[in-house]
Amino acid sequence: MNLAVIGSGGREHSICYKLKQSSKIKNIICIPGNAGTRKIAKNIEADISNFKSVYKIIKKNNIDLVIIGPEQPLVDGIVDYLDEKNIKVFGPNKFASQLEGSKAFMKNLCKKNNIPTAKFGVFDNFEDASNFIKKNEMPLVIKADGLAAGKGVVICASVNEALKSAKEVLSGKFKSSKKLVVEEFLQGEELSYFIIVDDTSYHFFGAAQDHKRVGEGDVGPNTGGMGAYSPPPLLNNQLEEKIKKKIIEPTLSAMKKLGYPYKGFLYAGLMIKKNEPYLIEYNIRMGDPECQVLMMRLKTDLFKVINSAINNELDNLKIEWNKESCITIVLCSKGYPANYINNSEIKNLSSIINDNNNQIFHAGTYEKNNRIFSNGGRVLNVTTLSKNLTDAREKSLITLKKINWNDGFFRKDIGWKVIENKKI
Ligand code: AMP
Ligand code: GLY
Repeated sequence: MNLAVIGSGGREHSICYKLKQSSKIKNIICIPGNAGTRKIAKNIEADISNFKSVYKIIKKNNIDLVIIGPEQPLVDGIVDYLDEKNIKVFGPNKFASQLEGSKAFMKNLCKKNNIPTAKFGVFDNFEDASNFIKKNEMPLVIKADGLAAGKGVVICASVNEALKSAKEVLSGKFKSSKKLVVEEFLQGEELSYFIIVDDTSYHFFGAAQDHKRVGEGDVGPNTGGMGAYSPPPLLNNQLEEKIKKKIIEPTLSAMKKLGYPYKGFLYAGLMIKKNEPYLIEYNIRMGDPECQVLMMRLKTDLFKVINSAINNELDNLKIEWNKESCITIVLCSKGYPANYINNSEIKNLSSIINDNNNQIFHAGTYEKNNRIFSNGGRVLNVTTLSKNLTDAREKSLITLKKINWNDGFFRKDIGWKVIENKKI
């Protein structure tokens, strides 16, 4: 089998890492990939928003199956495009991708199907939005309707702040959004819950907790994710049953009724309040950095899992996980999530050991003349699997100390709610 993985983040590096362990796989190409994927796959540079050029690469390299990592090409319809050309591809089609691509679509689907989520309003003009904001209690959450790389959400403590954020969205701050969602602020603990879905069934595909805020103690602006850990002690059997019955199953049957069954990975971003789940968002892909910790814990062959979904055989599949704990800490460029510098050399990565329990997954990196440079806000994911979370974090922090890079920063407190409260 020859596979293509589309994307260039830590998520895609960890997917390639896991696929590489399958005896069924001959070659992996990564489009465009990073300095980490380059070591285990063949990177091919291309603009992934140009589906025609992606298709040409796939034909030229005799690819049997394409796996899509990030949301943007899914939302733009890459699955429909490749399907039409008879290329086997794993991921949701353009219609189903609205679950992430349009918050208004997702919220309306929740409302129609009684799926628990924050109370909300959807607006396309400032006057209506402003009336709604003034009528509701603070804090309120202001969201751009379309994709915004984790930056389209502002939690507003005052009416003035909410009005300012609403105005920014409606005046086009996020190009993908002409609409605005205003919603009630939910207090609780966040949980990332994953499933893999085929035409007839779905299967649990891991759970994790992510830290979205840039600063230690979970303060400051939202990011794409500063670190994650799995398994999350927050998830128990009773809660999982509620997640499936109240959120996942009504969503999958609603998509079927709309005539567009969901197929692919599905990530429910949940807020857990008194052991009750509320849907904050859907993502139509694996999470980043959650995927990195899940790929370290996954014992079953990843190719076998994806192939079962493609052949609608998930019902018969047993997916096994390592019971140990895994943590990933994201090493970012100083300044992220605002402006940061690129092209800064990271010197001694090749001297740091990678094995089954320790992996440095690359995100924004590239290699030139055998040297590695930064190329993005989130740069490396220092990932450790160990007997418990405290131990895993300590080991990741030791590895981070060894990395010789002055232009980076990271959070030392990933997992604090669990580790400091001794819920490991
Ligand atoms: P989203 O892009 O909708 O996932 O929002 C990004 C992040 O903002 C979430 O992971 C939460 O940390 C936070 N957030 C979004 N909506 C809410 C809400 N209604 N209440 C509390 N926090 C929220
Ligand atoms: N870790 C958050 C995300 O992947 O959207």
